[in-house]
Amino acid sequence: MTYPIAVLVSGRGTNLQAILDACASGAIDASVVFVASNRAGVPALVRADRAGVPHGAFTTDEYKTRAATHGAMADALVAAGARLVVCAGFDHILAPVFFVKLAGVPVINIHPALLPFFGGKGMHGDKVHAAVLAAKAKESGVTVHRVHPDTVDLGEVVVQRRVPVNEGDDVATLSARVLAVEHEAIVEAVRRCIAKEAVS
Ligand code: GRF
Repeated sequence: MTYPIAVLVSGRGTNLQAILDACASGAIDASVVFVASNRAGVPALVRADRAGVPHGAFTTDEYKTRAATHGAMADALVAAGARLVVCAGFDHILAPVFFVKLAGVPVINIHPALLPFFGGKGMHGDKVHAAVLAAKAKESGVTVHRVHPDTVDLGEVVVQRRVPVNEGDDVATLSARVLAVEHEAIVEAVRRCIAKEAVS
């Protein structure tokens, strides 16, 4: 059965694109049934539109509170029939009501480092890579993990991949090397989640 998944985004959307491409090529037996963003007009929504996937922006400007915003987003995902939610470059912490409305549908997130290192509140995007470089770490990586209410970067690991830090790396070179691995890891994580759900 082609597995219905939803993807949450905030910006560029290259991880979303990796998932859309894997669905289109048959690399995973899944279909993106909804893309939700916490920002309007971002490139990720253009990618969803181009792929013919229903999408929407749920902003705190419009819904006023985080709970109302994430509640409306959850309603859209449930209505679309999503059975897995993938946070792919989504930079809000999901309100508890989101999980209540999703009623047990698993939520996963991709983080551009080797958790439990270089994670937690405020640690996202280029800040992660800058912290890895400042710590003179020899390697970084990618972690895809489960998301639970009121926690940040603490859920069970679904997929983890190592990425070397090279002599002379800066944030741009390191983030580009990590991003290429993110695109493989996120597809592998979706594959694992849907295989697990299919047998349970
Ligand atoms: C990725 O590095 C992801 O790990 C982080 O934000 C970035 C999003 O990239 N959470 P994109 O929007 O998927 O291109």
